[in-house]
Amino acid sequence: MIVQSKSFAPIAGVLAVATVLSGQPTFAHIEQNPVIQPSLRRHAMAETYGIPARYAAMRNPLPNTAKTWQRGAAIYAQRCATCHGVAGRGDGPSGTLLPSPPANLAWFATLPPGRWDGFMYWSIADGGRQFGTAMPSYQKLLSQKDIWAVSAYIRETLGRSRPT
Ligand code: HEC
Repeated sequence: MIVQSKSFAPIAGVLAVATVLSGQPTFAHIEQNPVIQPSLRRHAMAETYGIPARYAAMRNPLPNTAKTWQRGAAIYAQRCATCHGVAGRGDGPSGTLLPSPPANLAWFATLPPGRWDGFMYWSIADGGRQFGTAMPSYQKLLSQKDIWAVSAYIRETLGRSRPT
């Protein structure tokens, strides 16, 4: 959901005009747009400009099997559940302390971007610095295989849990 608020509209307008006038490829009108919830800025970016080229063509190379999901489940429990919650609903104990809440991954996994391998890898590898959020970058903390395993776990397990 993109939150609409008339009071922020002029700020968003100024950011957009500044982008056009400067002639520079800057994405501040999305990355720092106060009208868009921080956890949805990456979605807005992908819808407007696509997934960054280095991630766009990526496909999960791991077999989509229970063994892969189990590997992902262990990583998720160790590194992700504290913010995103055991069932992925964005309600982990550390997550509730953040100024901008962690994404609800159970819901995200059912949306089109949650089905795009490149979007998932981009989120986990780069983290949320670009969008001013606390999502850590796992580029150096996890192997590529681990990132793909936890992606498969989110999509195939958390995304299929019954919504509450
Ligand atoms: C310190 C808290 C924190 C931890 C730990 C954390 N995340 Fe996040 N995560 C966030 C926040 C906040 C967001 C929403 C902002 C964003 O997308 O940058 C997010 C967003 C995401 C998204 C994008 C969802 C969307 O709707 O765009 C994915 C995928 C994700 N996290 C996966 C993970 C995985 C996998 C791990 C563990 C390897 C993890 N996160 C660990 C806080 C955290």
